[in-house]
Amino acid sequence: PGQLLTEEQAEEIAMMFNALIEIVEETIDPKVKETKSEKIDPEDVLKERWKNLYEENEDKLIERAPVVTIMGHVDHGKTTLLDNIRNTKVAEKEAGGITQSIGAYQVNYEGKKITFIDTPGHEAFTEMRARGAQATDIVVLIIAADDGVMPQTIEAYNHAKNANVPIIVAINKIDKPNANIDLTKQQMVAKLNLIPEDWGGDTITVPISAKAGQGIDELLEMILLVAEMQEIRCYPEGLARGVIIESKLDKFLGPVATTIIKDGKLKVGDYFVAGSTFGKVRRMIDPNGKNVKVAGPSDPVQILGFEEVPDMHSILYGVKTLHEAKDYVEKKKALEEKVVQKRHIRLEDALKMMQE
Ligand code: GTP
Ligand code: MG
Repeated sequence: PGQLLTEEQAEEIAMMFNALIEIVEETIDPKVKETKSEKIDPEDVLKERWKNLYEENEDKLIERAPVVTIMGHVDHGKTTLLDNIRNTKVAEKEAGGITQSIGAYQVNYEGKKITFIDTPGHEAFTEMRARGAQATDIVVLIIAADDGVMPQTIEAYNHAKNANVPIIVAINKIDKPNANIDLTKQQMVAKLNLIPEDWGGDTITVPISAKAGQGIDELLEMILLVAEMQEIRCYPEGLARGVIIESKLDKFLGPVATTIIKDGKLKVGDYFVAGSTFGKVRRMIDPNGKNVKVAGPSDPVQILGFEEVPDMHSILYGVKTLHEAKDYVEKKKALEEKVVQKRHIRLEDALKMMQE
């Protein structure tokens, strides 16, 4: 009594209390426990609803355009490749020639839509690469033929592998006099364990020059071929579901999130939830800067109308009413608070006990 606790002592007591609370909780009838709605994560409810929707409507699922993420080491030519495909000049305008954010684009190739995600290759942007790999159907791994397999080539490859996404290798800069396609392939085998198709393996490998436009058609054909084998499907009608690949607080526009719609339709005026926030679609901007009223499967759009900046990589779900959106956020916030509060009380109780 009257003596102060050391940090270890306080922690030990807190742990004992936690154990005690767990024992008490275990004795609660699980049925009673489940009716405590505050324990249910509303996001899990939505996830479950979508799972059921897919299972019950298998016949209504249709093909969705592939989402393709371009990854690779810094300066290996990711943005230049997309510039060539889109006929733009983004790479030239970038500060220091380095991509610093995720960009999403859509092209039409031989009547088929392909959505592209450009990622930064600079080593500082690991998190963005990981996100890019998770939101996608196919990864195009770019390796410059004058530089070979480099640290972020390996890192990008690992992200794609972890996300279980098929990889197409594009060997770039073959127009350069010091380009060495064979050496690059040797490094693919040695460092990535990827064996090119023409060497008897199963990795589609396309030599290209993003700058000169060589091999690009072949690469696009391969993307469509892999997409076909993947059987990428969506539920095209009703409320939308999408993945947020980037979000920020814009000085003028407020919270903005780049989102790729995966199912359904998102319309201006729709209510939605994402992560622990909600909103109403105030405006949607396509990759060309044009306002759009509706976005469907595989469409990348910037969405305005979030209450708060949503977490990157959260899933956006369209909901029917404002009430449903608010109810979701209330439950989410209660869940988060509960975790914090519980710990707090436990430690306090523990300290009180010691003093008595
Ligand atoms: P980060 O986004 O910073 O990772 O770079 P990146 O992979 O997007 O590379 P970027 O497209 O910005 O190209 C880097 C440099 O390589 C630029 O100067 C391009 O002009 C040049 N480059 C890209 N592709 C080719 C190519 O096929 N041939 C030649 N000769 N140069 C290329
Ligand atoms: Mg770039």
